[in-house]
Amino acid sequence: MGVIKDILRTMDYGPSPESSEHVGVWLDEHKAGFGHFINGAFTKPGALFDVFNPANGERIARVSQGSAKDIDAAIAAALKAQAKWAALSGFERSKHIYALARHVQKRERFLSVLETIDNGKPIRESRDIDIPLVARHFYHHAGWASLIDSEFPDTKPVGVCGQIIPWNFPLLMLAWKIAPALAAGNTVVLKPAEFTPLTALAFAAICVETGIPPGVVNIVTGDGATGAALVAHAGVDKIAFTGSTEVGRAIRKATAGTGKKLSLELGGKSPFIVFEDADLDSAVEGVVDAIWFNQGQVCCAGSRLLVAEGAADALYAKLRARMANLRLGDPLDKSTDVGAIVAPVQLERIRRLMRQGEEEGLEFFRANDSLPDRGCFYPPTLVTGVDPASVLAREEIFGPVLVATTFRTPDEAVALANNTRYGLAASVWTENVNRAFEVAARIKAGVVWINSTNMFDAAAGFGGYRESGFGREGGREGMSEYRIADEPKPKPSASRSQRLNASPGVAPARNMDDAPDRTAKLYIGGKQARPDSGYSYAVLDSSGREVGLAGLGNRKDIRNAVEAAAKASSWGAATAHNRAQVLYYVAENLAAREDEFSRRLRAMTGMSARAAKSEVDASIRRAFVYAGYADKFDGAVHATRARFVTLAMNEPWGVMGIVCPNEAPLIAFVSLVMPAIAMGNCVVAVPSANHPLIATDFYSVLDTSDVPAGVVNIVTGEANALARTLAEHDGVDALWYVGDMDGAAQVEALSAGNLKATWTSPATIDWAKTQGRAFLRRATQVKNIWTPYGE
Ligand code: NAI
Ligand code: MG
Repeated sequence: MGVIKDILRTMDYGPSPESSEHVGVWLDEHKAGFGHFINGAFTKPGALFDVFNPANGERIARVSQGSAKDIDAAIAAALKAQAKWAALSGFERSKHIYALARHVQKRERFLSVLETIDNGKPIRESRDIDIPLVARHFYHHAGWASLIDSEFPDTKPVGVCGQIIPWNFPLLMLAWKIAPALAAGNTVVLKPAEFTPLTALAFAAICVETGIPPGVVNIVTGDGATGAALVAHAGVDKIAFTGSTEVGRAIRKATAGTGKKLSLELGGKSPFIVFEDADLDSAVEGVVDAIWFNQGQVCCAGSRLLVAEGAADALYAKLRARMANLRLGDPLDKSTDVGAIVAPVQLERIRRLMRQGEEEGLEFFRANDSLPDRGCFYPPTLVTGVDPASVLAREEIFGPVLVATTFRTPDEAVALANNTRYGLAASVWTENVNRAFEVAARIKAGVVWINSTNMFDAAAGFGGYRESGFGREGGREGMSEYRIADEPKPKPSASRSQRLNASPGVAPARNMDDAPDRTAKLYIGGKQARPDSGYSYAVLDSSGREVGLAGLGNRKDIRNAVEAAAKASSWGAATAHNRAQVLYYVAENLAAREDEFSRRLRAMTGMSARAAKSEVDASIRRAFVYAGYADKFDGAVHATRARFVTLAMNEPWGVMGIVCPNEAPLIAFVSLVMPAIAMGNCVVAVPSANHPLIATDFYSVLDTSDVPAGVVNIVTGEANALARTLAEHDGVDALWYVGDMDGAAQVEALSAGNLKATWTSPATIDWAKTQGRAFLRRATQVKNIWTPYGE
């Protein structure tokens, strides 16, 4: 016995490198450089840049730097191919996507080795995780292609999609982008990251083999400038981006007002929370997968360890012991756990942040400082006693560095977890199922893993809250990003701001004290409030006669309203049944005052009695519809991995800004505000600027319907000025804007600050027809909670 024990103790793995011969042959064949893949063929190589293997610093290929002209050509090919691709039956498209899946699977070894050589990740990961997930993604989406008509009725493809991906999971990110886009009937121009373009080019070769129609998939290599040219191109209908929050912001601004659809999957600083009753040995393995997987270059890496004070010393001790067993080195070696950092600039970024941490006097632990003498390596690192204000606790390091902080109570754990501008993922470790779900519910993140971490599957949605971006990838949630409503292009509406300022007879704002009784006030925190400015504006009827005065809201009023809305957040935690009851009450009270609302509509807009009655009737019906929906917009249980339940929960955004159009003042207000509050949001609404009195009449309906104070706040005034403040406000989580083109562009550009989700429509909407699940989907964000079962 003793002998075997000794052998086991001293036993080491011998080197066990994966053969890279076949990849070497392929790279040799392309020694002259790779061109782009446009319209089904490779272009002649243009201006070339070098691609390196980060594990040894050797150049492995040269690829073309995509110019604006290359982007033009690729978009033209995608445009030309799109109608025909979309016109194929779902079944035909699904066969194409199945073929891609099968060919990827057949080349798993080749693609794994190429990925490892290009990116530096351990072959064990590219072989067992990245490439199998790529195949899984194409298989899953082949299925969606054939189900598209029945599962996504009344929608159509977005058109040409520009897709920009990062270097941390090069082929997997390509699959996340291309598979759903193609399944939904779009064509794509994809730009891989400049550090890791090779598997995308190998994938292009697979597209040729499987006979994907020319122009359906186009791949243009290059750096950020190539990406920017793709974003700016007028022929693009949607941009899907994964990468840094900084570039995400730039893309949000660049696409503002262009009508391009946008989804952003950005950075994170995800908490990994270990409670005292957690299974610490499992948690240690969890940490390994959370922060040392892919050298920590993972957007959802569990990079902030939050551990219960009582468990901290034991956990740290186990972690240090485990770190000593991590094998760092040649990524092609099958027993390597930690490979190379993708590029020297990323290595330098990690080192810079570590120097800052050292200056703060933080305590570092590294098991093994002996690194290979060449290549980009950084050792697994544990930093303990990190103050939440430390740069290392706030900044995304994107390296194998875990920063640890202790907490005393579950409330403190949640507060620390949410103390970040990001919200991509979280991992919760406890043997107490009640606590696990409570914490999962309270964390603001798009994905929560209970007693597990970094679980992915094509059937589950993935994506962030807050500055981690918006939109989801994977499953039904991801598919809906690639479809739009199938309706004729609506006419842009007339400019609202001009109308308000230019209408003859609009009295210059006058002091409220002149006519205190006739002025409708604002409605903030359940109370009528005088506008901060002390001014009001004249509300005119269709013949230009003054029918009343409305408060002229300003920035301060919006800020007060946002504060009131944030305070009312328990509305989102109320049961859906409770919310339904309140909404029914609103609908009933509106119905009881039908005649009064009809008269007011007529007086303000000059519409016929019949039209007014019909708008009020439709509004009442709509209010009942959303009351009915309050407890029926269910989430889902996704079919992902064996022994996991993956719950997709529809959660409210929190505070929503809603800017209503001038037209249809009652039904537009009801159509926008009711779905938002039905889903548990608290709202700051800016009603029709020209006809605000119908919304101010609504206060009394809210007051008499048990709507809690702060759930609906109403600020009247110049819509675009108020929209601006809402867009800039970091306390606003989502913003709907229906108005003119300038206002829509402004809202999108200014939303880049906290990357709030926006939905803008610079068009005349037929409100009589528009209601339903599309509104509820925009009033919520999906959180996927993964829970293992079995022991
Ligand atoms: P990056 O955001 O610059 O690169 C991602 C992709 O965007 C690449 O394809 C790049 O060429 C492209 N790109 C760059 N500038 C662009 C622009 N103006 N317009 C359009 N496309 C543009 O990220 P980078 O510089 O490689 O890494 C910096 C940091 O970003 C990392 O240290 C990490 O913190 C974070 N990051 C996060 C990722 C994630 O998965 N969420 C992935 C990569 C980086
Ligand atoms: Mg960059």
